[in-house]
Amino acid sequence: MPANLSSRSPSSTLPPGFVSARVLDRQALTPQVTAFRLRLDTQGIPFHTTAGSHVEVLLDLGAGDEVRHYSVCAADGPEITIAVLREEAGRGGSRHLHESVHPGTELRVRGPRNTFPYRASGPAYFVAGGIGITPFLTMIAEADAAGIDWQLLYLGKHRELMAYTAGLAAHGDRVTLWDSASRGRADVAGALRALPHETTIYACGPESLQHALREAAAATGHVIVIEDFDAGKTADTSGTADTAGPSDAPLPGSDSAVSADGRPSLPFTVELADGSEIDVAADESILDALNQAGFRALSSCKRGTCGTCETPILEGTADHRDSVLSAEERDANETMMICVSRACGSRITLDL
Ligand code: FES
Repeated sequence: MPANLSSRSPSSTLPPGFVSARVLDRQALTPQVTAFRLRLDTQGIPFHTTAGSHVEVLLDLGAGDEVRHYSVCAADGPEITIAVLREEAGRGGSRHLHESVHPGTELRVRGPRNTFPYRASGPAYFVAGGIGITPFLTMIAEADAAGIDWQLLYLGKHRELMAYTAGLAAHGDRVTLWDSASRGRADVAGALRALPHETTIYACGPESLQHALREAAAATGHVIVIEDFDAGKTADTSGTADTAGPSDAPLPGSDSAVSADGRPSLPFTVELADGSEIDVAADESILDALNQAGFRALSSCKRGTCGTCETPILEGTADHRDSVLSAEERDANETMMICVSRACGSRITLDL
């Protein structure tokens, strides 16, 4: 849970950690991308973002509340801007924001979190695919402020569908805008080979782009940091999809059917803080079992990558199957991601 908003719930009607956020205005950046400027009612609690931060937005999509993650494109105290790509084939969050959220709308927001931290300590090469440009706006501002050398390779299919290009063009030859419709596929491996060895690569985009960059960085020896805070980033064989990046694209299947050491999934019982018990079958997650029982637990990616469903453990040991917690956090056994992680043994008690 975000440290600076977790000390109290701002309203009895808001889930823990969430605050009310009024939409101040919205602006169409491209035919598919709209920016929303929000003012968070933090009730006096400090709200500090860092380069690469994102917020969680809780949306009522009809079948219950769901969380979506959006990078903070700009922040001025409790006023933040997020940019949302409309994904017609997505899970509904972006369509809801585009169609139903207007100036004056009250949203529910939690954060900030930062799973993509930028360390302004040396030359940086930013690689953005499509809507994956959003976390780099704050990173570029921080790099500029620190006087650090940086370059941006911004990939998209069509120039007119790439958000924030006008502002980025002001940075001159630090920025390469690459639209594959007119220029063909970008040679990201070649781009990395041309970089000084001490350059750190930061990337946010579709999985195909991430894969290509990981391979290229392994060959060149560059340090690479990749944004992976949500599931369902749209894979695109060109690696230049305009639909890539933080999104509510359809979910891929979970790959957590067995534990990291190959342990199969077995049934167990979850005890809640009030003493009630919920049985979890071998083929379902704790999250699914809770929802089946009518308990509305928050979730987003449902594959252990975003951290939204992180839940405190009161008793018992978790079989961690997420990619959020560090090895130290797993050993501490204080929290678990209930969308994928399970119990070691026949029961576990959670602070729910
Ligand atoms: S819902 Fe994303 S980690 Fe569980």
